[in-house]
Amino acid sequence: MPISRPFISIDNSPSIPEFPYIGWCNYCGCSGRPYNWCSSAHTTYRLGCGYSADHVNELQAALADTYGLGTTRNILLATGSTPLLEGAVHAFCSAERPLATVDPTYATSEGTARALGYEIRSVPVDNGMAIELAGLAAAAKGAGLVHFCNPNIPTGTVHSATIVEGFVRQIMRESPDTRILIDDAYIAYAAPALMQTVLPLTAEFANMFITRSFSTAHGLAGMRIGYAMGQEETLRRIERA
Ligand SMILES: Cc1ncc(COP(=O)(O)O)c(C=O)c1O
Repeated sequence: MPISRPFISIDNSPSIPEFPYIGWCNYCGCSGRPYNWCSSAHTTYRLGCGYSADHVNELQAALADTYGLGTTRNILLATGSTPLLEGAVHAFCSAERPLATVDPTYATSEGTARALGYEIRSVPVDNGMAIELAGLAAAAKGAGLVHFCNPNIPTGTVHSATIVEGFVRQIMRESPDTRILIDDAYIAYAAPALMQTVLPLTAEFANMFITRSFSTAHGLAGMRIGYAMGQEETLRRIERA
């Protein structure tokens, strides 16, 4: 029986000379030799086998265009949004600057702060399971980072853009050095009439940024693509952390 070969062999691919980059195999065990060194069993990145590093710029440009950000410098791509949540805690929290978060919410930020031994100010949801914004704004005073998940998981509650904007403005007034991470991971599942992103606020506030994930929005968790949107200086701090 013929073996089904879903991939085009590198050795036989007529398009290889057109590739405008030098690829390095991170698919097999050949330890980073140029892809054409590998046997034909190893396949072109362009078909999604291995990490598609050659598409990073295009994806960044498409996202910047989709969200009207003007420049790819306002987008930080990562292998899922998890490294962005972790990186934000590393970048903005410290022994003196706690994490302000919600109980319950998506726990990566809290887990990262706990692993680093940082103080965690965790504000319980209210009786309707909604994030208690006044309590979270109070917890944000002097904090390094606020993690605000909207829609929140696992409670599924949402806050409108108007309410979130008021919340952001309050924190920026009362604690201007605090960073605010708005985790939009589940926004695609929320009724637009109930909530909208507050992405436009990132143009006004360098300390606020948004994270999103292809894992949740498109059910593509295996592709490991997440991104943060915000001002360049803030994104570079997360990238370096
Ligand atoms: C609210 C929320 N944020 C972030 C993530 C991280 O997702 P990923 O690292 O797959 O992008 C998840 C994953 O389930 C999530 O539920």
